[in-house]
Amino acid sequence: MEHFLSMKDLSEHEILRLLKEAEAIKNGGQKPFEKQLFVGNLFFEPSTRTKMSFTIAERRLGFESLDFTGESSSLVKGESIYDTARTFEAIGASLLVIRHPEENMAARLAADISIPIINAGDGAGEHPTQSLLDLMTIHQEFKRFSGLRIAIAGDIKHSRVARSNAFALQTLGAEVYLSCKPEWEDRSLPYPYVSIDEAAEMCDVVMLLRIQHERHGKNKGVNPADYLRHFGLTVERERSMQPHAIILHPAPVNRGVEIEDELVECPRSRIFKQMENGVFARMAVMKHLLKDRGIIDDINIDQ
Ligand code: CP
Repeated sequence: MEHFLSMKDLSEHEILRLLKEAEAIKNGGQKPFEKQLFVGNLFFEPSTRTKMSFTIAERRLGFESLDFTGESSSLVKGESIYDTARTFEAIGASLLVIRHPEENMAARLAADISIPIINAGDGAGEHPTQSLLDLMTIHQEFKRFSGLRIAIAGDIKHSRVARSNAFALQTLGAEVYLSCKPEWEDRSLPYPYVSIDEAAEMCDVVMLLRIQHERHGKNKGVNPADYLRHFGLTVERERSMQPHAIILHPAPVNRGVEIEDELVECPRSRIFKQMENGVFARMAVMKHLLKDRGIIDDINIDQ
């Protein structure tokens, strides 16, 4: 892998290789690399989980993290994001992690920047490290993807998590279903739409999505109780799920909107397990990028 930009870029073998590495790190630990390496964390959108878990992942790998905040940088003097990224490259960063509100920003930079770039969320585009941690959580539960029925339910049109997961799950042989308000459908995605009632009853995994208010422009305003009743996971719907079925949500969670409050930490919920897995998934991605570029040679998996 040269960069980590989209789950569409990854073969089944590459995804499984990363999952195996993430599990190996989780179970066996990982010694920090002895080389001094710097990682630039460029977050142009708010983040708690992604930013903090990258920071922990970087420290566990022995990296020095360079945290960039736009307001105190030369962006306020008019410097472009490209020149900002080139600066990190010039001063010796080995890797860049970028979250940005514009779709394809990470990919555009990757076309011209020679160090590896990780897409940590690009607008409504993709969120591939979130997808990897979601896949890790599903695999821990079922030990397979083939034949699993997985519903992605919520703000499909504006969700980068929906896109990355739909692409990856299809590559891995799962049956993907989508569920949402009609105006949030994305008909460019070739997966069947079902109601939230059908999704709850028939699926092994119900993956809920946050409502992406910040991408709705003028069409804001969802009544929380109405949304939960018609499109969210209520306790009544949870009771109709199969005994083995699990609930995922990338978080942040709007409790009482996408999911009834008491379900967030119920026995089926893997929401905080997803966050825990995020550190290991991100460590695996960073290791592979540096290994594949020949920057490190310490890697403990089958090729
Ligand atoms: N799931 C996720 O990306 O959360 P943050 O926006 O807090 O990073």
